[in-house]
Amino acid sequence: MTTQRIAVIGLGQRIAHVLAAMKEMGWDLRVDGYVDPRPVGAPIMQAAGISPGREFATPEALLAAGPYDLVMIGTPNHLHMTHLKAAFAAGYPIFSEKPIVRTEAETLDLARAIAAAGSPPLYIGLVMRSMPIVKETIARVDAGELGELISMDATEHLPPEHGAYLARNWRRRSDWGGSFMLDKVCHDFDIFGRLAKARPAKVASFGGRRIFTPERADAPRQYEDGSPAYAMRDAGWSASNDPFQSDMDLADHQTAMVEYDSGFRLSFHSNSHVALAERRWYLAGTEGTLIADLVRNRLMLRRALNRGRPERIDYGGITADSHNGADQAMALDLLAALEGRAAFPVTPWDSMEAGLTVMAIDRAMAEGVMLDCAPMWAEFDEARGARAAA
Ligand SMILES: NC(=O)c1ccc[n+]([C@@H]2O[C@H](COP(=O)([O-])OP(=O)(O)OC[C@H]3O[C@@H](n4cnc5c(N)ncnc54)[C@H](O)[C@@H]3O)[C@@H](O)[C@H]2O)c1
Repeated sequence: MTTQRIAVIGLGQRIAHVLAAMKEMGWDLRVDGYVDPRPVGAPIMQAAGISPGREFATPEALLAAGPYDLVMIGTPNHLHMTHLKAAFAAGYPIFSEKPIVRTEAETLDLARAIAAAGSPPLYIGLVMRSMPIVKETIARVDAGELGELISMDATEHLPPEHGAYLARNWRRRSDWGGSFMLDKVCHDFDIFGRLAKARPAKVASFGGRRIFTPERADAPRQYEDGSPAYAMRDAGWSASNDPFQSDMDLADHQTAMVEYDSGFRLSFHSNSHVALAERRWYLAGTEGTLIADLVRNRLMLRRALNRGRPERIDYGGITADSHNGADQAMALDLLAALEGRAAFPVTPWDSMEAGLTVMAIDRAMAEGVMLDCAPMWAEFDEARGARAAA
């Protein structure tokens, strides 16, 4: 195996964790350089025994000092577009974190750029695609074990520490993060679109900020055992000190209803301050039902007319970061893609569709309407050079 030479733009917690997982899974890698004014991921790199290489002042200087086998982009979401374009110009393979870009306009711009000039190999960190439980869910649905997909409900509920981190970190602001749902559940909506093999036709959504508000600043700041609440993690770049009194302009809870153009219907419920954490998909088809419990890493399914015990698969490997081995699985998928042994499980186009789906949900919430998505998909198809859907 040859040593993979890596350049990093945005050496935050995420890229450091991904690099650590790559090393753990046997990558022969060397980080040659990085650009980051304050690399939040430095302690994670140190703990993993990976040198960050030389510091560069700008992406252009870093990229000019190549060659690299992989450029990794892990900046806050509003910078992805700029950094993707710089990396396209350099021509090296790219791993970029999700969401691929932050707004509808950026998505169309990116689609046009790729349609016009292509891009180097581009792998997006929609890490759930690499999880064994998710791969199995997709395989079972594709094999027809549930029959035709009819409806689904899904959740993502975060414990108070995680919610408080989002309310203090750069993700609290729409001009940096995009939105609560975009940053957190573009993963899930990517998989839902893949399961449905269809695009959302109509979306509606309600949500807002009612948890991390100045009015609740006097809420208890301690757990019952006396340990401090809401302050656990270093909130990093442009952080705010207090989750209740920050300049957050995003939702801290949100619900959504989606009807796909195949007739598949789903509801989604997300909250960032719960005592019982959950990320769960309940999928009902004409011939079977499947529950994917992504927190406990357990799958359960049964045919609709079967009275026996449901089939259960327990994937185990539960980790404190709640990724349950997904980063390690993605590290293997990424190496296989770079070495030309297998296609990466998600394409840039899939990533853009997942982003646009969540952006439509957010627009429906902001405008208080049920949104018809057809005009958005027509614009997207035109931008990507595909014929707009009839
Ligand atoms: N796939 C996943 O499961 C997953 C999980 C967490 C984060 N992410 C994504 O990873 C990205 C980074 O998130 P994070 O949690 O690591 O955030 P973070 O705050 O830990 O890291 C962001 C880093 O970007 C740096 N940065 C800011 N401006 C910069 C600039 N102009 N040039 C270079 N670096 C700059 C910051 O100093 C910081 O070190 C985001 O897009 C996020 O959505 C993905």
